[in-house]
Amino acid sequence: MGRRWQLERGRDHFYRMAKRERYRSRAAFKLKQLDERYNLLRRGHVVVDLGAAPGGWLQVARERVGGEGFVLGIDLQAIAELPHENVATLVADITDASTPELIMAKLPRAADVVLSDASPKISGVWDVDQARSVELARSALAIADAILAPGGKLLVKVFQGGMFEELVAEVRRRFSSLKVTKPAASRRGSAEVYVVAKGFRRSR
Ligand SMILES: C[S@@+](CC[C@H](N)C(=O)[O-])C[C@H]1O[C@@H](n2cnc3c(N)ncnc32)[C@H](O)[C@@H]1O
Repeated sequence: MGRRWQLERGRDHFYRMAKRERYRSRAAFKLKQLDERYNLLRRGHVVVDLGAAPGGWLQVARERVGGEGFVLGIDLQAIAELPHENVATLVADITDASTPELIMAKLPRAADVVLSDASPKISGVWDVDQARSVELARSALAIADAILAPGGKLLVKVFQGGMFEELVAEVRRRFSSLKVTKPAASRRGSAEVYVVAKGFRRSR
């Protein structure tokens, strides 16, 4: 049995599950797995999801926070509306300096959790794509700095490679605990990992 075949089969498995359970993306299962493992999302939480289109993570986040919480999704692309009044979306570039303020203006209070599944448009040139991924993760961290409540949590996707350790060190400075993990629903062989940080306390 070839490795390629196994990879394809794994991908299909999560794709079929997403269709069956009516999630907008197979990525929804990554968030479910990460949340089960790290206990990130609770009822009543205010959650901000960066790079949120087409909205699979928004669906999972809304399930977890329930009717009392609030979920805001941001993407370069418009996100089709979700059928809940406590889920809002915003078309914006997370690397833009004015975006943290735009986000804060839409929230009922400081956020409990910032999620980022943002990925660059893949050019195929690995160094370029990896550097862009780190830039997106940096922007997610800057947004977290601006909008997280003390004790808040951050989950951010990044491609491992150049500047990865520096990024991890920057996250570590602001949070009391940090883990680097790869959920089972991620493609095997991909360089993508998730940094999970808890206990936001601002940079020292
Ligand atoms: C893997 S998809 C996210 C999937 C999403 N978590 C879901 O479950 O549906 C990555 C997203 O990042 C977005 N993105 C990339 N660069 C961005 C930027 N600078 N600002 C906002 N969104 C960005 C892309 O438009 C894309 O929709």
